[in-house]
Amino acid sequence: MKGVILAGGTGTRLRPLTNIINKHLLPVGKYPMIHYAIEKMANAGIQDLMLVTGKHSAGLYTEYVGDGRQWGLEVSYKIQEEAGGIAQALSLAEDFVAPDKQVLVILGDNLFEDSLREAVNDFKSQEQGARVFLKQVHDPYRYGVPVMKKGRIETIMEKPEIPPSNYAVTGIYLYDSQVFDIIRQLQPSERGELEITDVNNAYARQGLLFHSLLTGWWTDAGTHQALLAAGARLLEREAP
Ligand code: DAU
Repeated sequence: MKGVILAGGTGTRLRPLTNIINKHLLPVGKYPMIHYAIEKMANAGIQDLMLVTGKHSAGLYTEYVGDGRQWGLEVSYKIQEEAGGIAQALSLAEDFVAPDKQVLVILGDNLFEDSLREAVNDFKSQEQGARVFLKQVHDPYRYGVPVMKKGRIETIMEKPEIPPSNYAVTGIYLYDSQVFDIIRQLQPSERGELEITDVNNAYARQGLLFHSLLTGWWTDAGTHQALLAAGARLLEREAP
């Protein structure tokens, strides 16, 4: 299975910090943010990883990550010229993923405790479909939120004003190769982006969207408050 970390986008909610450096290179505890997603990929048993970044600060990624040997990974890079949405960023990895037929995707601003190893191993024996990871949160309106029916995800609403449940769909996804055909058929959303929630809903309509619950802490470090809190938590992890 291949791994893809999506680290493009504009990071508008973290301005002015992101005026000078890409969001995923900002310090979180001891490391730049991107370090943690790479660590999760290696821990999940991924060997080939693609990093999709924007043009902004692109050289700094290669400086920090290099060829990935520090994590026992082989890392390649792809540039997302413009922030066309999460699904558009993922589409850039199609040729890279193709020979393996399955991919673990992590959004570069997602920081979390759980290991993905077991879920990745289980998914390898699954013939088709997608799996998302849910986490109970107090502010679901900030995220994709699942509508559950009989223990399955019926559909996902993106940032609903009135959330149908108190779960967030986190930025961790497992897909089969159908994902790229689905992305090709997407229309841009109102904010002009190809939405990952529309991809997941296409799987849900086919009855092929599965889910797991994260049991440890999880955050997306997309705001100043979340960045600070995640930094404090992860620094604690490093304490002797
Ligand atoms: O963090 C989980 C949430 O991530 C999900 O609950 C939502 O369903 C999903 O849409 C997404 O929401 P956000 O509003 O947080 O997405 P954001 O635009 O902040 O992008 C998240 C990451 O995706 C970002 O750190 C880098 C990557 N990205 C994003 C865009 C828009 C790209 O690589 N390229 C892009 O064009």
